[in-house]
Amino acid sequence: MTPRKVIYDTDPGVDDAIALYFALAHPGIDVVGITTTFGNVSVAQAATNALYLTALVNRDIAVTRGVKAPWVKPGEAPPDFIHGADGLGNLARRVATTHQVDPRTSAQFIVDEARLQPGEITLVAVGPLGNLSLALKLEPELPKLLREVIIMGGTIDEPGNVSPVAEANIWNDPHAADAVFTAPWKLTMVGLDVTHRVVTELALFKKIADHHRHVATDTLHHAVAFYCTFYSGLHKHLALNPGCFAHDLLAFIYLVSPELFQLENGGIRVATDGVGQGQTMMNRRGYIDYPQAGWGRHLPLTNVCMQVDAPGCLALFEQTMLSDWLT
Ligand code: BDR
Ligand code: CA
Repeated sequence: MTPRKVIYDTDPGVDDAIALYFALAHPGIDVVGITTTFGNVSVAQAATNALYLTALVNRDIAVTRGVKAPWVKPGEAPPDFIHGADGLGNLARRVATTHQVDPRTSAQFIVDEARLQPGEITLVAVGPLGNLSLALKLEPELPKLLREVIIMGGTIDEPGNVSPVAEANIWNDPHAADAVFTAPWKLTMVGLDVTHRVVTELALFKKIADHHRHVATDTLHHAVAFYCTFYSGLHKHLALNPGCFAHDLLAFIYLVSPELFQLENGGIRVATDGVGQGQTMMNRRGYIDYPQAGWGRHLPLTNVCMQVDAPGCLALFEQTMLSDWLT
């Protein structure tokens, strides 16, 4: 199988780190660049974390810094109670590394790579969508130049995680998200409808760390332990048996094993203001001409993951992480 070339747009973040290591461990994924954004941490910290995580596994992958604030609304405070102030569960210390950031902006990097390899690159975006919306402004032909876009974000039927209706990545930059949903790419949304169905237990991360005995998997285990503490305060079953939702991981699992998901499609718009800010609204009746503006038949269709084979995802994750991927 020829590996899929991916630009990983991310705000690491604990589940972003889980997803990154899965991508680096999986033979079907070739991460050609990591574009960072604000979100779980500042963009500077996000880039520092991406450089650190890749250095720990001896992978020299371009890392860029991107947008540091939402397009229109004022920025929200980073959720240090979920990911730690450093985004990786408040690491006590970091080993010295030498990897340096690529001087281009994240949006410019996306545009450059898409132009260099038209139709080859899949963009996996698991943070607020400012880099992607900016790249779209720089290069309006981007939807034709990218092979596919997969985002972790949004929710349709499942309650939100920052309000009853909104998911964090979309809420953090709703205007950027609306620009992404209304552009004509091949777009798949991996949202809370599926990420809340898959619990990754802390014990699995311990098993992975014990198996490899490597600084990278020890770091991941530490970060996930912090992240699980947040989730144990939220859900009773996670207090009894520590575990978490590794949201961003599912975007990569969808990339390599789409058969584990059931999809619906429809046009999606994002509420940009008011108490519903960040809500992802899907038109499930595209054949109706609604009187409300903004829902015309021109609206591109988004594939939305609505159901998932959770045991299948967990088996793939475990098998991949226990494989011989670390040097
Ligand atoms: C999303 O928000 C972030 O906190 C996570 O990294 C994930 O991308 C889940 O709502
Ligand atoms: Ca994220």
